[in-house]
Amino acid sequence: MGKIQALSYFVVQSTDLSAWQKFGEQMLGTQVLPAPGGGLYLKLDERAYRIAVVAGSEDRYLASGWELPDQAAFDSAVAAIHAAGIETTPADAATLAARQLRGLASFVDPSGNRHELAWGSTAEITPFKSPLGALKFKTGKFGVGHTVLPALNFDATLKFFRDVLGFGLSDIFNFQPGPDAPVMRIYFMHAASGRHHSLALAEMPSASGCVHVMLEVEDRAEIARAEVRREQQGVKLMATLGQHENDKMTSFYMMTPGNFALEYGWGGIEVDPASWQTTQTQQVSIWGHDFSVGFR
Ligand SMILES: [Fe+2]
Repeated sequence: MGKIQALSYFVVQSTDLSAWQKFGEQMLGTQVLPAPGGGLYLKLDERAYRIAVVAGSEDRYLASGWELPDQAAFDSAVAAIHAAGIETTPADAATLAARQLRGLASFVDPSGNRHELAWGSTAEITPFKSPLGALKFKTGKFGVGHTVLPALNFDATLKFFRDVLGFGLSDIFNFQPGPDAPVMRIYFMHAASGRHHSLALAEMPSASGCVHVMLEVEDRAEIARAEVRREQQGVKLMATLGQHENDKMTSFYMMTPGNFALEYGWGGIEVDPASWQTTQTQQVSIWGHDFSVGFR
């Protein structure tokens, strides 16, 4: 089976599109354009969008979009999902037009997270120009970034992504928030393109549908610039600047208008899916990343 390449895009639902317009243009540094048929496209690179914002009754994360290289790989992924006993729903014409794809099938994983399998972008390729100047995101074959999803049905969800969809296990972290707290597993998984993780499964609930997403910039100085913007714009800090042990990402975390956190990072490592040996992280971060600020 052709493998999933990367987290191509994600979809959020919003009660207030103007909040995402402002957050995209002024905080993240993406271009923001009206999407055909309604909603917004947040453009991070030459593709029409990497974040799709749709209007709805809640502010939340809606779906993760996984890219396959061609129709044969798409068809075999859909067949593998069916064989595992999970239904897929082919997109209707309106959704295909909204996502600008040739093929799309949605499904729900064993923990209840919604996903879209995608292939064949029909979007026009146009240059990216950040409204904040020279800023560039690390995307391309690595996709939009990574997503960390709640996975309370942990074992079945892990097995599904590893055995059915072909993700590799990059790193295992057994997170114990306090000395007497129960351990929560967070497993970090890579797709074929080799970003250290495109997906992480976290054994914790999340009312907004996502623990956090990560966008990566190409220049380390942009992290400091972004932290200044965050403070000026009054965007809530969820974790202070720090560097992760497992993917070496230097980043900070902030709240999005979707009620989930966004990690704004630089310098994450890549893995070679053919030879990578799963690691086991002992700590979240080498330095920094005080998550208590987000829960004060
Ligand atoms: Fe992350």
